[in-house]
Amino acid sequence: MTKTKAAIFISGRGSNMMALVEAAKVPDFPADFVVVVSNDPAAKGLEWAQSQGIEALAVDHKAYGKDREAHERAIDAALRERGVEFICLAGYMRILTPWLVEQWQGRMINIHPALLPDFKGLHTHERALEAEVKEHGATVHWVTPGVDEGEIIAQARVPVFADDSAEKLAARVLIEEHRLYPAAVRKVLANYSSGNKSAS
Ligand code: GAR
Repeated sequence: MTKTKAAIFISGRGSNMMALVEAAKVPDFPADFVVVVSNDPAAKGLEWAQSQGIEALAVDHKAYGKDREAHERAIDAALRERGVEFICLAGYMRILTPWLVEQWQGRMINIHPALLPDFKGLHTHERALEAEVKEHGATVHWVTPGVDEGEIIAQARVPVFADDSAEKLAARVLIEEHRLYPAAVRKVLANYSSGNKSAS
């Protein structure tokens, strides 16, 4: 089968990145993760990627000051040099500029730790507890200019218990994220290999 060359963007520990890389070890997985990109050279996940034989590329946003687009142009150029066709954002904690989104729209997906459209943005577990929801979860969605607003690809749900802390809830959601993200990549790229390169 033809595999789609893909990049994973991280900013920290990279547990979702690890789940994607592990899932991609089976021969029929439709993506080949060729590079892991981080805006933070100290991101823990970079070392792990390297230990798996995957290129770990730090493009430090601090080097670009306030010019967010220049930072993203540098990343974009690196991706194009490597023939990357698809991006999975996996705990990438920077809001993307409209420029980068435009370059990759229809070829870039994100995982968000909440059941979108509820709880866009940060601190989703704390906010879910405050709102006393009975159910929480994670969403994989297409990346569009509006933050956490793109079309939903897949969701995973978990119960919220009366004695939950944000940490307990986050851990329960994270287990589901690790199942959900590889499944969502499979779903999306199954479409790709049948020739639909701009599915969204
Ligand atoms: C994950 O829970 C992911 O859904 C979330 O950050 C965590 C990263 O963990 N992403 C966002 O909040 C994006 N706005 P990881 O580095 O262990 O995958």
